[in-house]
Amino acid sequence: MRFSTRSSMFPGSKIRAINEEVVRLSSRGIKVYGFHIGQPGLPPSKDLLLEFTKELLEKPFELSMYTPSNGIDELRITIANDYSKYSGINITPSNVSVTAGSAEALLALFMAIIDEGDEVVLMDPTYLMYEPVIRFLGGKVIKVRAREELGWLPSEDDLKSAVGRRTKAIILVNPDNPTGRVLDEKTIKLILDLARDYDAYVIYDEAYKHLYYEGAHLYALGLDMEHVIAVNTFSKDPGMPGWRLGYVVAHEDFVKVFNRVKQYTNLNPPTPAQYAGLLYLTKYKEKYLSETLPIYKSRMEAMYKAVREYLPRATVVKPRAGLFMFVNLKPYLEGLGIDDEEFSLRLLREKHVAVVPGSAFGDNGKYHVRICFARESEEDIREGIRRIGEYLRGN
Ligand SMILES: Cc1ncc(COP(=O)(O)O)c(C=O)c1O
Repeated sequence: MRFSTRSSMFPGSKIRAINEEVVRLSSRGIKVYGFHIGQPGLPPSKDLLLEFTKELLEKPFELSMYTPSNGIDELRITIANDYSKYSGINITPSNVSVTAGSAEALLALFMAIIDEGDEVVLMDPTYLMYEPVIRFLGGKVIKVRAREELGWLPSEDDLKSAVGRRTKAIILVNPDNPTGRVLDEKTIKLILDLARDYDAYVIYDEAYKHLYYEGAHLYALGLDMEHVIAVNTFSKDPGMPGWRLGYVVAHEDFVKVFNRVKQYTNLNPPTPAQYAGLLYLTKYKEKYLSETLPIYKSRMEAMYKAVREYLPRATVVKPRAGLFMFVNLKPYLEGLGIDDEEFSLRLLREKHVAVVPGSAFGDNGKYHVRICFARESEEDIREGIRRIGEYLRGN
């Protein structure tokens, strides 16, 4: 079989080895403590699903047809109203384009902005979807260290030396995956100043913008409508990752070009998902968030407490938002003479706890693990972390 040379630019996720082992263990009936998956641990609103299935049966034709590639008008209007309401910014439907998850939004937006040799600034560690696509399109990735000692913020000097004449975009994930950190206003403003100086975009991935346990989300679009492209999804707060629905909010001139490009990445976002997303925003969002956020918050607190108790030599920044904790196990792993990848596999095989090796998110994630607190009950969170401690102490 003959593949393109460039297909090797997509290395395959380092999480795959973990997933395969989880499937193998689970198929043998073994209980796995699943801290590896980056998705909500609660199902979508039941009332929403009841109303949606009724609508699907009543309007099977409409809900199964192609839609405009940027989404049905009703959904774009509703997203614009919802975004305006939460952000306080005046967003119109012409600023919105609906996508098949934020993954499609990222692909189409990189296709819309990257030329050969353009530089894109990324944090290290960061979410692992961006780099291969940027490189595939001929872009060059410039990494800025997210500094653990600064609560996973980048330093001002590092940012200033990374951004320059060739910079086309800077990617910010806020709240962050994998570290759980929230960007402060000073850092966002500094990055926006740099973006303006070099006429670069700030790609603001706000997938977790409604999952705050402390403080509130900063909407970067409100600070600069021309340079910020906000990337959003229905995968996280509505608990609907498999429905594949997302959207971008940006300047209407950008959205026009984005819409033209995205006609080629997917004909339209999944039609049934668009109607379900519409129901979520118009009728169920506030109630659902008021029910689910306290559960995630207490799971986060339970995991943080367990990490402090069972892994006293580890360091961890307590997350103020999102679904993850990024734990530094260096004192333990150096002692055992193994890295985070080997540790994650051994932990899974021997103690049946699934975590993601930090190096999957960049070199700077070495000796760390990403653990998701959203999926398991508080009791299982405690037990899973206890097992990690047991493994690291050599029991
Ligand atoms: C920061 C971030 N961006 C984008 C995505 C992609 O999500 P989706 O394509 O389901 O919207 C994820 C998924 O985990 C994520 O964590």
